[in-house]
Amino acid sequence: MATARAHTNIALVKYWGKRDQKLILPETDSLSLTLDEFYTTTTVEFDEQLTADQVTINDRLLDKKNSQKVRNFLDLVRQRSGESAYARVTSHNHVPTAAGLASSASAFAALAGAASAAAGMSLDRRDLSRLARRGSGSATRSIYGGLVEWRKGDDDLTSYANPIMEDVSFNIEMLAILIDTKKKKVSSRYGMRQSVATSPYYKVWPEIVAHDMVAIKQAILAHDIDAIGQIAETNALRMHALTLSADPGFTYFNSDTLRAMNAVRTLRESGINCYFTIDAGPNVKVIYDQRNRQPIYDALTKQFGKERLVVSKPGSGIKIWND
Ligand code: PMV
Repeated sequence: MATARAHTNIALVKYWGKRDQKLILPETDSLSLTLDEFYTTTTVEFDEQLTADQVTINDRLLDKKNSQKVRNFLDLVRQRSGESAYARVTSHNHVPTAAGLASSASAFAALAGAASAAAGMSLDRRDLSRLARRGSGSATRSIYGGLVEWRKGDDDLTSYANPIMEDVSFNIEMLAILIDTKKKKVSSRYGMRQSVATSPYYKVWPEIVAHDMVAIKQAILAHDIDAIGQIAETNALRMHALTLSADPGFTYFNSDTLRAMNAVRTLRESGINCYFTIDAGPNVKVIYDQRNRQPIYDALTKQFGKERLVVSKPGSGIKIWND
């Protein structure tokens, strides 16, 4: 039996497109910031008495259909470790509201940590990131804290995360604007596949990312939050252009997403530097220097209300306990 806690991460240079669906090998590198405020704690226990895997998330027992991805992941761990028993998985997503920022990144990173330890595997962090990758691509990066890259690699062995700056030594902060959606979202898996297969602009995406990866690493070395924010915002818009230009086209934005994007631009025009990024959903995350927090927080509170805002500092890497 083992427990792991992993924090979620938000990509500043996005992963959007798989080269290999089964191994989850990405088309490009990517780079993210691990966040302090959002994390998942998961306990895994292999038990000879069980006749099937039993998965409970936030005190709710999942049925067969909803636990499919977790059970597939456990099969992979059993195959690699030689463990033959079924497992009891108990997981809690720590998010401030139910507005859907719970991420598969922290979930699969924590599951990889707890399941591999419970099965007696004792993986180093690189191999742990390779294992987490098989659950969800973005989970690869949640093994480490701070600023993390995922190297696309050539195969299962060479596609893993690498910490760029685990203890972030400058004042970058991220504020999530939680935008509710009643509509079922388009899965990132489907969204990526559609973009790769049908957007005429996908051809240039690998070049854009290669360029942005070099530029953002320079900006990180220089502790240049404005350059990091500018690169992240442009990269996010170009990623979302791949959804709008797919056939049929689709978008993760809703009207509140556009309102939040405009609020960030308006703040910038008034001389307060901040930048946005958006993932496969309507929520908007704002990047800024902590010293600018107050005017940004005040302006966004007026438009969205305090209860929709969550400020987060850089978070730490995975922790694993053998119980
Ligand atoms: O790991 P997935 O399959 O949920 O995909 C994540 C996709 C983005 O969040 C949009 C980008 C990223 O790099 O995290």
